[in-house]
Order: sequence, then C-alpha cells, then structure tokens
Amino acid sequence: MKPNPTFWQGKCVLVTGASSGIGKALAEHLVKQGASVGLIARRQEALEQHAASLSAAGGTVAWACADVTVAEALATAVQDLEARLGTCDVMIANAGIYHKTDVSNFNTLIQNTVVATNLQGVINTVGAVLPGMILRQRGHIVAVASIAGMIGLPAAAAYSASKAAVVTLFQSLRVDLHPFGVKTTVAAPGFVDTPLITDEERATLKELLTAEQAAARICQAVERNRAVDWFPWPTWLVCRLLSLLPANLYRRFVANIPDMEEPPTPPLSEGKR
Ligand SMILES: NC(=O)c1ccc[n+]([C@@H]2O[C@H](COP(=O)([O-])OP(=O)(O)OC[C@H]3O[C@@H](n4cnc5c(N)ncnc54)[C@H](OP(=O)(O)O)[C@@H]3O)[C@@H](O)[C@H]2O)c1
Repeated sequence: MKPNPTFWQGKCVLVTGASSGIGKALAEHLVKQGASVGLIARRQEALEQHAASLSAAGGTVAWACADVTVAEALATAVQDLEARLGTCDVMIANAGIYHKTDVSNFNTLIQNTVVATNLQGVINTVGAVLPGMILRQRGHIVAVASIAGMIGLPAAAAYSASKAAVVTLFQSLRVDLHPFGVKTTVAAPGFVDTPLITDEERATLKELLTAEQAAARICQAVERNRAVDWFPWPTWLVCRLLSLLPANLYRRFVANIPDMEEPPTPPLSEGKR
C-alpha cells in the first residue's frame, strides 16, 4: 500500500511529548503533511520555540503545557488546543520516560514514576479525547510504546512492563472501539536517536533510527491503520526470537545488553497557552 499524500491534510493532530525527540519530529512531519498540530509537554520554553519554528515555516500550530500524569491538567490542555485548532482527529500519546531499574537499590518511587508516565499517562491521554471521538463516531488514538514492550529488558523492568501494558491496553481498546468508529494504533520502535538513549548506545547500536525516520514510520502506521507496528524489522526479529527462548537461555543472552542511562529530569513548567 502506497502512502496517502492527502491523508493528513486539514486534520487536527495532538501530540504529547512534543518538546523533544520523536514527538518533536512527529510535529514537524505532520505540519509538512498539512495537518494542524497541537504540541503538549511540560517544558514551556521548548514547546514555545518548536511551535515558533513550525509556524514560521507556514504550519498551523498551537501548544499547551501539561503533565500527562495529571489527568485534569491534560484534559484542560486538550480542550484548550481543540478550541484553537478544531476537534482532535488524531491523538498521539508519545510522552514517555526511561529510568533504570537498579535491583540493588530498588526505588519504588522512581519505578512508579515510569509506570505513571508511560502507562497512566497514556490512559489519561486516551481519556482526554475519547468522549469527543465516540460522540463524533470517528478519530484515531495512537500510542508510542517500544520494542522493550515485547521482552523484559535488563535494568528496564518498569520501562518494559509499562510498554507491554500499553500494547495490550491498545489491543483491547481496538476491539472495544471498533463499533464506535474510533481506530487505535501502537507504534513500537527499537532504538531511536533522542535524548532518551546514551552516548554509548548512540555510538554502538547498528539499528539506530533517527527521530525523523521514527516519526515518518509512526505516521505511516496510522495511515495504514496498523494495530501494532514493531520496527525496525531486524530489531523486531531479534526480540521475537529472544521471546521464544527458554528462560535460562533468555537470561544468558540478554544479560549482556548494555544498560540505558538516566536522562536528566527537566523542571516542571507551570505555564499554559
Ligand atoms: N528513543 C528511543 O530509543 C525510544 C525507543 C522506543 C520507544 N521510545 C518512546 O518514544 C517516546 C518519546 O521518547 P523520545 O525517545 O523522543 O524521548 P525524549 O526525547 O526524552 O522525549 C520525551 C518526551 O516526553 C515528554 N514527557 C516526559 N514526561 C512527561 C510528562 N510527565 N508529561 C508530559 N510530557 C512528558 C518530554 O517533554 P517534557 O520533558 O517537556 O515534559 C519529551 O517531550 C517515549 O514514549 C519513549 O518511551 C523511545
């Protein structure tokens, strides 16, 4: 199936985690395709700058600060953006974080923060647009999970668990929402060159996608109404084969995968536009 050049034209697309990495690239890609794009994240300055550069290039863009773990704040941000851009046709729940799971110093607060952002944040994002989409009998909700959701990666227990939960969450929602005309897609990338990964990974990983490549692929999955899109395929294949191994062999193979580092925690912005 060929990409549809008019698919995004005139559509209102809201993207969480649009201040950096994949979300930032998604916004840029979507503006180029003719969509009106609403940017959501916590860092006001980063959103403001990105929106200004997209608007300067001729895009229709608005932004609103919200923490996806706070359902009311996120719903308010969505309402605010819909008032300015029109009702949401496509919502992309992309915001996510990684924190290492250190078993010798297991920090429940940090692990719960990963789940709160990557799973509850996605549920809050779904909740913010779903009533309107059901009323209109149309819409598409997209989640950015990860190939880490297929297998439990070392030092990434909460991250892998949160992403696996998003995959099954959307598998269920796809069935339940079908009668209402609302579509769902989960995009599950392998490693992507964003601030989420370490310099070591950046230097050593063979299958490292750019944020722009990941964004284009996610948009293509939406155009094709894919249920789940694991990519790139070589990483998918390795993970799929690993998932079929007996537990002891699996432990030996994955024990050598390098840990991901802690990304810096950005300050929480109070601003909203
Ligand atoms: N990079 C990879 O290798 C990779 C692979 C597979 C999947 N993914 C997934 O792709 C998504 C985007 O990650 P990325 O790689 O682009 O990382 P990134 O550059 O660190 O971007 C993460 C985005 O999420 C936002 N965010 C984080 N916590 C938030 C919160 N509580 N409320 C609102 N926004 C929040 C951040 O904005 P603020 O800090 O401004 O809030 C930022 O815009 C994540 O779900 C990640 O798990 C990444």
